Amino acid sequence: MLSPQRPQTPRQTVLKILSIKSIHHVEMVVGVYGQCFTSLASNHSIREMLRMPGVFGVIGADRSSDEAVGFAICRLVVDEAEILSIGVRFEKRRLGRGRELLSALLAEARMRGASTAVLEVAECNEPAQSLYRVFGFVRVGRREDYYESKEGRRIAADIMRCMLHV
Ligand SMILES: CC(C)(COP(=O)(O)OP(=O)(O)OC[C@H]1O[C@@H](n2cnc3c(N)ncnc32)[C@H](O)[C@@H]1OP(=O)(O)O)[C@@H](O)C(=O)NCCC(=O)NCCS
Repeated sequence: MLSPQRPQTPRQTVLKILSIKSIHHVEMVVGVYGQCFTSLASNHSIREMLRMPGVFGVIGADRSSDEAVGFAICRLVVDEAEILSIGVRFEKRRLGRGRELLSALLAEARMRGASTAVLEVAECNEPAQSLYRVFGFVRVGRREDYYESKEGRRIAADIMRCMLHV
């Protein structure tokens, strides 16, 4: 049984959180994405993702420089928010930015009617798994051989879910 998730408030809100709307925002996402994942993203692929029904995202920018620090994207299907992607610029990690972004994304999802959230994460991605656990996500399933590492090794994905506090 899943317990309702309390809204997570970042200890200190540092980022300027913007909805991803313009091509400039898409470019900011692509810049961060390249630092976070082995697969490539282009302006086109991110734009296409954001055009899918129910998909929305946030970008976190440095308040003084406006530089993109991270992003988070999800898809709302009826009352379930599926976290599609989240990433923080390498040199800005472990500073609470992922927490800020996920908090903003889930707040937006709740506002749009989500009561649960779900995601897939590589079983060996300890930073992401820990971040999700902070928000109350628990493992509810597993997909064997779901991802492929840079070296061509198959990696299992955990499916994690949490209930969103309304
Ligand atoms: C996952 C990711 C977004 C976390 O961003 P972040 O800004 O470093 O996270 P935060 O500083 O907000 O950390 C929040 C909590 O997550 C956990 N966490 C984050 N990084 C961690 C790490 N390297 N090791 C262990 N726990 C970690 C901790 O519980 C942390 O809370 P604490 O700082 O109080 O200990 C970032 O590591 C990243 O961009 N990774 C590459 C992309 C990726 O894997 N995305 C997820 C795909 S499913």
